[in-house]
Amino acid sequence: MRKYILSPSLLAADFNNLEKDIRSIEKAGVTYLHLDIMDGMFVPSYSFGFPVLNSIRQITDCFFDVHLMIENPDRYLKDFVELGADSITVHAEACKHLDRTVQSIRELGAKVGVALNPATPLSALDWVLDKIDMVLIMTVNPGFGGQKFIPSMLDKISELKSIIDEKGYDVDIQVDGGISSQNVEVVMNAGANVFVAGSAIFGENTEEKAREFMDKIK
Ligand code: DX5
Ligand code: ZN
Repeated sequence: MRKYILSPSLLAADFNNLEKDIRSIEKAGVTYLHLDIMDGMFVPSYSFGFPVLNSIRQITDCFFDVHLMIENPDRYLKDFVELGADSITVHAEACKHLDRTVQSIRELGAKVGVALNPATPLSALDWVLDKIDMVLIMTVNPGFGGQKFIPSMLDKISELKSIIDEKGYDVDIQVDGGISSQNVEVVMNAGANVFVAGSAIFGENTEEKAREFMDKIK
């Protein structure tokens, strides 16, 4: 059975009170946390880094779904795993030797994800798809929360789902950017099963919004 998962993006949480927001999503039954790491190079912005990850690792058992939006991520894979990353997703566009990076994450014992920007073709996955646990289809251009979902990504998701099914692989399809309880059904029908949502979850009434989202993917 395919598992449907909500992975709230901490980027949209209240940085003055991360613990409160984490408790709210946990109360709604959330078990994943999506952690966006930005380097100001691969994407124009910075987010947060090791000290924040280290602090929140002390207060939650949530699965740490780490999304690295950084150039040459190989430099930091070990650090992220040591800090408690359960899954590491790297961008195909940011890796000179993607196959090597995939192998390194595997050897470190974390789950392996590969992300594709909206304009990157699925063929970038051709020789790694059988070696990874998850593909992240970016449904916005990475770098900022609160952007609008790019509708043409639905075809990309369906195409990827067909390839995965045809080959018989066990690979999750994650979507990230502009996802909310309003459009989650459409992306789910296209074939995605791991949903990242930031601005649609955090803010006012975080627990209720997380609960509403969880109900939609039950
Ligand atoms: C964007 C990040 C996302 C972001 C999503 O580059 O990868 O995870 O937090 O934010 P929303 O859900 O607000 O589009
Ligand atoms: Zn992300």
